[in-house]
Amino acid sequence: MIAILGAMQEEIEPILKSVKEYKEIEYAKNKFYLANYASNELVIAYSKIGKVNAAITATVMIEKFNASRLLFTGVAGALSHGLKIGDLMFATSLLQHDLDITAFGHPHGYVPGIEIFTKTDSDLNDIAKQTAEQKGLILKSGIIATGDIFVCEASKKEWIKDTFKADVVEMEGASVAQVCSQLGVPFFVLRAISDEAGGGAEFDFDEFLASSAKVSADFVLSMVEKL
Ligand code: ADE
Repeated sequence: MIAILGAMQEEIEPILKSVKEYKEIEYAKNKFYLANYASNELVIAYSKIGKVNAAITATVMIEKFNASRLLFTGVAGALSHGLKIGDLMFATSLLQHDLDITAFGHPHGYVPGIEIFTKTDSDLNDIAKQTAEQKGLILKSGIIATGDIFVCEASKKEWIKDTFKADVVEMEGASVAQVCSQLGVPFFVLRAISDEAGGGAEFDFDEFLASSAKVSADFVLSMVEKL
C-alpha cells in the first residue's frame, strides 16, 4: 500500500480526479480514499493544515492502512532566490523551525532524543529524479522548514532561511518525516511553490494554490507508475 498525503483538499483533488474510482473510509474524523493506480494500491488523504493534523494522518495511513511507503504532495513558500511560483522541489531533509527550547541552551529545532534534520529516502528521491528526466521537467531538491505558521513577513522568512539554510517553508513536512522515520516507512516530500513567503504571500497563495498543487500532485502520481 502506498500512501499519498496532502494537507488541503486542493492538494489531493487532482489525484482523486486521475484515479477516477475510489472507496471512501472515515476514520479519526478524517476521510481516506482507497484506489488502484498503475498496479499499486493507494490510500489517499488530506490531513488538514499543520503539524499535528499531518502527524495523525500519516500515522493512521501507516498503522491502520498498512502503508509501506508515503509520498507527500502539496505547495510551499519559497525561501531561496532560485525558486519561483510553480517550481517543484523535493526535500532532502526537513526540520521544525518553530520548535524552540533555546532557553535551555539547545539550538533552534532541537529537542533531546531527536535530530534537528530528518533525511528523506534516497531510493524514492532517485525515482523522482528519473521521473523528472523522462518528463523533461525541472525538479529541484533542498531543505524544507516546517512550522505551524503561514510565513508572510520578510523578517520571519529571512530568519528561517538563515537559521536552517532552508529552501522552502510549509506547515506539515517535518512532522510527517518524523512519523515515517520513527515507524520505519520510506517517505518522499514534494512541494510546488505557491508564494514567496514574504509580504503579501497570502494573496499569491490564494491565487496559485490550485495550479501549483496540481503540478505537485501530477508529478507524484507519475512517480507511482514507477513503484
Ligand atoms: N505553504 C505555502 N506557502 C506557505 C507559507 N508562506 N508559509 C507556510 N506554509 C506555506
